Amino acid sequence: MAQVHGYKNGKINIVLQERENVDFQQKSKVHSTENSPFKHIDHEFSSFVGMTNLKNSIKEIYASLLINEKRKEMGLKDSKQVLHMLFKGNPGTGKTTVARKLASIYYEMNILSKGHFIEAERADLVGEYIGQTAQKTRAIIQKAMGGILFIDEAYSLARGGEKDFGKEAIDTLVKHMEDNHEDFVLILAGYPSEMNRFLTFNPGLESRFPFILEFDDYEVDQLMEIANRMAAEREYNLSKEAEWELRNHLYKKVQHKSRNFSNARYVRNVIERAIRMHAVRLLKQNSYSSKDLVLLTGNDLQLDRDRTNS
Ligand SMILES: Nc1ncnc2c1ncn2[C@@H]1O[C@H](COP(=O)(O)OP(=O)(O)OP(=O)(O)O)[C@@H](O)[C@H]1O
Ligand SMILES: [Mg+2]
Repeated sequence: MAQVHGYKNGKINIVLQERENVDFQQKSKVHSTENSPFKHIDHEFSSFVGMTNLKNSIKEIYASLLINEKRKEMGLKDSKQVLHMLFKGNPGTGKTTVARKLASIYYEMNILSKGHFIEAERADLVGEYIGQTAQKTRAIIQKAMGGILFIDEAYSLARGGEKDFGKEAIDTLVKHMEDNHEDFVLILAGYPSEMNRFLTFNPGLESRFPFILEFDDYEVDQLMEIANRMAAEREYNLSKEAEWELRNHLYKKVQHKSRNFSNARYVRNVIERAIRMHAVRLLKQNSYSSKDLVLLTGNDLQLDRDRTNS
């Protein structure tokens, strides 16, 4: 991929130019000669456990894009896609990570010209006096042109009702998502119940988002797969006993369904803490065999202490 070359040279701006010049036809030829036309997408999302709906939506977008190109070749009408999205999901279900990934994938697909990712929240959009909000929101949209604008906790824009300046931010966003849908993707994200309430307060908004994706809470098997992958990515292994303890612990967590259980982020925190505990243990034991250096034990996980409730 051109991206890799460019980053090796450390010249990201040159990469952008170089890649802008890559003809989409060429790319599509490369992909269509592969056994599966979606191999590339599967590969890009291979690090994400689950998320079948999301992967299917991206495949739909990709297929439409390629077919559009073929239709254009035949002189048929080409239709532009609107790609704004709503993400509904509890903490740690992967909303931000996926949105960031989409920016680079859309760039690869030539849907976005720059593929950068701008994350904003209420304070970045809403001003303190009349007129300031529209200005602030427009400035952020301008910055996000060619990339993805990701607004987390989007429902906070509707917090104060009709008189609140949040409404002005929503109106400004709506106007621009209609006008600039060709080189700009807006993703609004938030927890499911709040997002649903947000949509009922703003009728007409939902229909402007062709993609509404639900990020479900993970099941224990999925959390275990995420844990094992996170450990493996860092070149560690969980011992059998550590796996067993973690699985039991996660069963309890998932059963309680506490509102602040943070799914995959919780697992990441457990693994990262285990890595620190493992380091302390090895220093104390003064044992550094290649087996010791990679093996995370049940004790390393420190599940009984459970300070990772974020
Ligand atoms: N399906 C998955 N497979 C592997 N890792 C995942 C998956 N989903 C989330 N993660 C990991 O979990 C962590 C938290 O994900 P992320 O920050 O994207 O969640 P979020 O939905 O944006 O949470 P919040 O609502 O609290 O902002 C990240 O390290 C991410 O890489
Ligand atoms: Mg997030």
